[in-house]
Amino acid sequence: MFQPIDHNVDLSEEEFRLLRDLIHERFGLFFDDNQRSSLRSRLTGRLASLDLQSFEDYYHYLRFGPQRGDELQRMVTHPTNNETYFYREMPQLQVFAETVLRSIKEAKSAGPDRTLRVLSQVIGMDVDQVALEKARRAAYHHNSFRSLSPAVKERHFVPAAGAAAQVKEPIRRLVSFRAGNLVDAASYAPLPRLDVVFCRNVLIYFSDAMILKVVRLFHQALVPGGYLFLGHAESLSRITDLFTPIRFQGAMVYRKEGPHEARALPAVS
Ligand SMILES: C[S@@+](CC[C@H](N)C(=O)[O-])C[C@H]1O[C@@H](n2cnc3c(N)ncnc32)[C@H](O)[C@@H]1O
Repeated sequence: MFQPIDHNVDLSEEEFRLLRDLIHERFGLFFDDNQRSSLRSRLTGRLASLDLQSFEDYYHYLRFGPQRGDELQRMVTHPTNNETYFYREMPQLQVFAETVLRSIKEAKSAGPDRTLRVLSQVIGMDVDQVALEKARRAAYHHNSFRSLSPAVKERHFVPAAGAAAQVKEPIRRLVSFRAGNLVDAASYAPLPRLDVVFCRNVLIYFSDAMILKVVRLFHQALVPGGYLFLGHAESLSRITDLFTPIRFQGAMVYRKEGPHEARALPAVS
């Protein structure tokens, strides 16, 4: 007889640990003990879609099921937080536009390679296919413009059907997006050597061990003298001294050792 599945399923402590550790191992995201109900509500829909009876079944599906690769990709949309808006953490963007870009431009003007490579702005990488599709569409609702003046909005956006506005075509053409997992070294292999990495408000969801792993990968991916921008709550001070921190008014920037150091940016004391 057909038995409807109750998707108000409990997530036991043991199941929570198994799923939490799997997500941490694969994606770096860390749920601590008091986030059990949050993980439960984020993943319940996946059980419903797959007609599974328990989180233990779901764990086995993710670990050993023949479709585990596809399901891991679908699953990762749920525990991640995609909230953001344009011109978030403005002081840091000002440091980038007014100081860091100038310094890189000066350093590059002497050599044969004049292309600027920025992970996150010119090349965008995300593990979540849904987030990548949104980024490629480049159409946003009103909330995304809460920090933007009408003049800047008009300069860079056009009205769009089904959204408040869409990034103008000439800007969209400058940017490419790719699927990639920050904790996986293979995701960086196809990238060119980078001048700048922006990774803001992502590592805040990672464990310290995974932050260290990712920061080491950024270090390898950057050119000597390259720059790393993290979110304001994502200090590396207790994690690693691989990068030199430079403090500006309202913003912190991390620099990899290398030739640009001769032109060291003026820090704010
Ligand atoms: C809160 S958003 C960051 C938004 C933006 N950078 C900002 O500062 O507002 C976090 C993004 O990190 C992505 N993410 C989480 N874990 C990841 C991983 N292991 N590899 C790549 N991207 C990941 C999520 O899919 C999500 O789109």
